[in-house]
Amino acid sequence: MGAISACIFDLDGVVVDTAKYHYIAWKSLANGLGFDFTEEDNERLKGVSRMRSLEILMEIGGVDLDEETQLKLAAKKNEEYLEYILKMTPDEILPGVKDFFEDLKAKGIKIALGSASKNAMTILNQLELTPYFDAIVDGTHVSKAKPDPEVFLKGAELLGYDPENCVVFEDAEAGIEAAINGGMRCVGIGSPEVLNKANFVVPGFEGFSFEKMESGLK
Ligand code: G6P
Ligand code: MG
Repeated sequence: MGAISACIFDLDGVVVDTAKYHYIAWKSLANGLGFDFTEEDNERLKGVSRMRSLEILMEIGGVDLDEETQLKLAAKKNEEYLEYILKMTPDEILPGVKDFFEDLKAKGIKIALGSASKNAMTILNQLELTPYFDAIVDGTHVSKAKPDPEVFLKGAELLGYDPENCVVFEDAEAGIEAAINGGMRCVGIGSPEVLNKANFVVPGFEGFSFEKMESGLK
């Protein structure tokens, strides 16, 4: 594997915990349809696109809805989600993320975003993190969902680096598979039992550094 020139970050669950807001909005949609939606159910939606999330929700509730209704409900869910997102502040950036970005910048490593979210720009702006990114690829730029590597390959291409010079940071299994499918190395953020396909796993960015990443990847 080549030298590390760029790091590509997933957003939800890596840079910020938006899962709690997705959960509130999906739960109120489920309740409106007459069934419950638990936090455990919510785990199944991590890294999954908005429309696929709705399909999983329908499966859980045992409901069948036509396409037009699905689009309407997904839009309604997003409206509620946005109410929370628009109240977010830089305080919600996960611990250690900003220090790690600063460390990468100081070492001349490029930073990209590789997220399935169509709200990624809004979230980055709320967190005041947009200026850190040399390239941004989100759910509005891709047609294939993770584990397809499209989102990460586009990021690498925008930065002008080969996949073997990029490292992906992901909290979802599908995202780790996407990185591997794209020929990139991958650091899992979360628990090693779940993210066992990553090159290595850390619980978060607190105390993490470029050196620790390099030695973990060796
Ligand atoms: C990320 C999250 C998912 C979410 C998806 C789409 O991958 O982990 O839970 O469903 O983005 O997000 P959006 O903001 O476009 O609804
Ligand atoms: Mg994620």
